[in-house]
Amino acid sequence: MSFRDDGAAALEWAARYLERVGDYPVLAQVEPGDVRARLPASPPEQGEPFAAVLRDLDEILLPGITHWQSPRFFAYFAVSASEPGILAELLAATLNSVAFLWRTSPASTELEGLTLDWAAQLLGLPGGWHGHIEDTASTSTIAALAAAREATGRDVVVCSEHAHSSVDKAAKLLGLELRKIPADDEFRLRADALDLSDAAAAVATVGTTSTASVDPVPAIADKRAAAGAWLHVDAAYAGSAWACPQLRRSQAGGDRADSLVVNAHKWLFTPMDCSLLWTSRPDDLRRAFSLVPEYLRTSEEVDSLSEYGPALGRRFRSLKLWAVLRCYGREGLQARIREAVRLAELFEGWVREEPGWEICAPRSLSLVCFRREGSDEENEAIVERVNRSGELFLSHTRLDGRYVLRLAIGNERTTEVDVRRAWDALRAAP
Ligand SMILES: Cc1ncc(COP(=O)(O)O)c(C=O)c1O
Repeated sequence: MSFRDDGAAALEWAARYLERVGDYPVLAQVEPGDVRARLPASPPEQGEPFAAVLRDLDEILLPGITHWQSPRFFAYFAVSASEPGILAELLAATLNSVAFLWRTSPASTELEGLTLDWAAQLLGLPGGWHGHIEDTASTSTIAALAAAREATGRDVVVCSEHAHSSVDKAAKLLGLELRKIPADDEFRLRADALDLSDAAAAVATVGTTSTASVDPVPAIADKRAAAGAWLHVDAAYAGSAWACPQLRRSQAGGDRADSLVVNAHKWLFTPMDCSLLWTSRPDDLRRAFSLVPEYLRTSEEVDSLSEYGPALGRRFRSLKLWAVLRCYGREGLQARIREAVRLAELFEGWVREEPGWEICAPRSLSLVCFRREGSDEENEAIVERVNRSGELFLSHTRLDGRYVLRLAIGNERTTEVDVRRAWDALRAAP
């Protein structure tokens, strides 16, 4: 078989998968170790046809896949790898650029800059910010906090108790002291409790992981200006909503950030991984990361994006984001985001109207936090039961000590019928 024939078979596999993904149990119905037990312990001596890989993908791996592409994936933050993004990944792998210097991939380096400028315009961010792509928001936050330490010479980071654990991890990795500020009764950082006098950075979360609550960024920006601290805004999930002007309320104060992260792989229909990191202080990022050994010295007076983050080798990630922005356009992206918010609003209404169920946090964008009257154990059992059924997959959080269910909408294939099926399954759970 040729590359062309195998490629056609792989593309056919991908197309059929996307057509049927809604028919699979959303959460993998396997036990730990099941997948590995069905695979040979050692690699083959002789090469096998690519068809054997596709066969094992169907027979052995597929049952062990939790289907993030399913329209009834409602856990964590739901995501979509869109068709233009998937095809662009294939092309990026084909080119296999390793863009650590401008000269090792001029097109990749320049397209990354352009695409981040496009994305900034789409989201209504200030013009002139420097943007580049990291693999994940975890890495973007590490980069931002390293720059904050470099710029301020301080070693304290302050965030809310609801900030993502990636902030804890970045602080741990960078040897920074992390101070957590309590949240108010709507799960937002309490700015009145914020003291940044010795802080390198404040991390404000716009769209927290538990409830998508929005920290008071303008008040945090005021305090950090007085204290000379860095302001990093983590808008990993919620930032994509800014593509819709009517969903930009949460952007207030964001223009005063020193760095801001939005994950295109969360709600901008771009396959994992693609985390967009902008900074208004690129020189500080560069000071934190630039190291140019002799073998990387070149005559060109141009930026190499590897000087703005931890990794040297860089994938051609901008190609997939560029493909999505081009093939969906601003209007296509807005329509998909608005629909997810509409569906979340609908679901919220059903929960509110249903006796014995309650909403546990103000609905923010496409995330609904709710629970049924009863004990934590009973609510945990509902989640366990519906997830095991394969009908849908949702996750939980704990708010004020109580176990709370979360329904996150973000997959582009999710329709009202899917959300209704989810609600029926939840209500029917004994
Ligand atoms: C608010 C927030 N920040 C950061 C992250 C980490 O994202 P990543 O998996 O890209 O590191 C998440 C993940 O869900 C998140 O919700």
